[in-house]
Amino acid sequence: MKRIAVFASGFGSNLQALLEYEKNNKLSGKIVLVFSNNIDAYALRRAEKSSIKTICFSPSDFTSRNAFDKAIIEMLENEQIDLVVLAGYMLLAGKALVSKYKNRMINIHPALLPAFKGTHGIRDAYNYGVKVTGVTVHFIDEGLDSGPVIIQEPVTVNQHDTIEMLEEKIHTAEHRLYPLAVKYFCQDRLKIVGRKVIIEGI
Ligand code: GAR
Repeated sequence: MKRIAVFASGFGSNLQALLEYEKNNKLSGKIVLVFSNNIDAYALRRAEKSSIKTICFSPSDFTSRNAFDKAIIEMLENEQIDLVVLAGYMLLAGKALVSKYKNRMINIHPALLPAFKGTHGIRDAYNYGVKVTGVTVHFIDEGLDSGPVIIQEPVTVNQHDTIEMLEEKIHTAEHRLYPLAVKYFCQDRLKIVGRKVIIEGI
């Protein structure tokens, strides 16, 4: 059984979706740790409610960003983590961490990458006036939201949608998609070929 760490900085609704999927025995992996850089993250409360170990520290607790990254790697090694799942984690993963967890760290982004990278994917797509946006799950590489795409799902923007309506549609799609992607990883069904990710058995 793969050992999973979820990194979250905020509300943690994606974490919740993963926990529920796991509770229904569908994840094929075990969430053993929730890490946050933000002590007020509601994600930490969700983890506690599910009796999952939580750890919280932030770059400001360290003298350098390198030292912070080193502490993260140490934490992951101590917990023998196989997969790092970024779920609303609002810090860029440092170089050492990216290289240590290459092909073993994934992220969910609330837009159809490579469009609308960064921290405001939903708002940026909405303000741009696109008719279709969506959700992307991808591996982490050295760039910003630039790693190989695992799965994507389009979400239609209707012309009378408010941003709140769009946010709700995106989150619904995320909560369906992320558990699936994690399951595929845990079942060793993801093969990375260059920039392409092949999902075996679909
Ligand atoms: C999600 O919409 C996720 O896609 C986004 O933050 C939200 C976290 O929600 N992540 C990014 O924008 C990363 N660039 P949650 O805390 O309720 O899971």
